[in-house]
Amino acid sequence: MNPTATPERTLVLVKPDGVRRGLIGEIISRIESKGYSIVALRLMQADRAILEKHYAEHAGKSFFEPLIEFMLSGPIVALVVEGNRVIEGFRSLAGATDPTVAAAGTIRGNLARDQGTQVVQNLVHGSDSPDSAKREIDIFFAGVLIERNK
Ligand code: RTP
Ligand code: MG
Repeated sequence: MNPTATPERTLVLVKPDGVRRGLIGEIISRIESKGYSIVALRLMQADRAILEKHYAEHAGKSFFEPLIEFMLSGPIVALVVEGNRVIEGFRSLAGATDPTVAAAGTIRGNLARDQGTQVVQNLVHGSDSPDSAKREIDIFFAGVLIERNK
């Protein structure tokens, strides 16, 4: 591995269940304890337009509308997190999509469970590739985030 590689950035969301349960601090603490840097942070009430753009890859799926409704159900926190291999690293911190089987030690594995809701509520989102990260950061931080110095 090349230690001088340019650090990546990823978009993390603390979803409405995380904010409602008072887990913003716990989630940020895990990100910081791992050694990643938070380079932007925003507490917001998302609207339908931003969420439909963010989750465009899931349009048409059975869980799409319940997912949008859930994400509209309260404030969220959007963060840009930076570090070498942070996209992969945050997905690993978050754990599997289904919190029932997410590994113990992960955010979802330790802090979430099946609540019997129509769409799985799993506390956090993390970008799944460099292309998704760029697209999603542009959606949530358009014009706000200063480009990294080259
Ligand atoms: P995310 O995008 O939120 O980080 O989650 P993910 O990559 O682990 O999962 P993804 O497949 O992208 O799904 C996005 C979110 O939709 C909800 N979902 N529900 N079958 C279901 O009920 C189902 N599948 C997905 C979850 O909230 C998931 O995080
Ligand atoms: Mg995803």
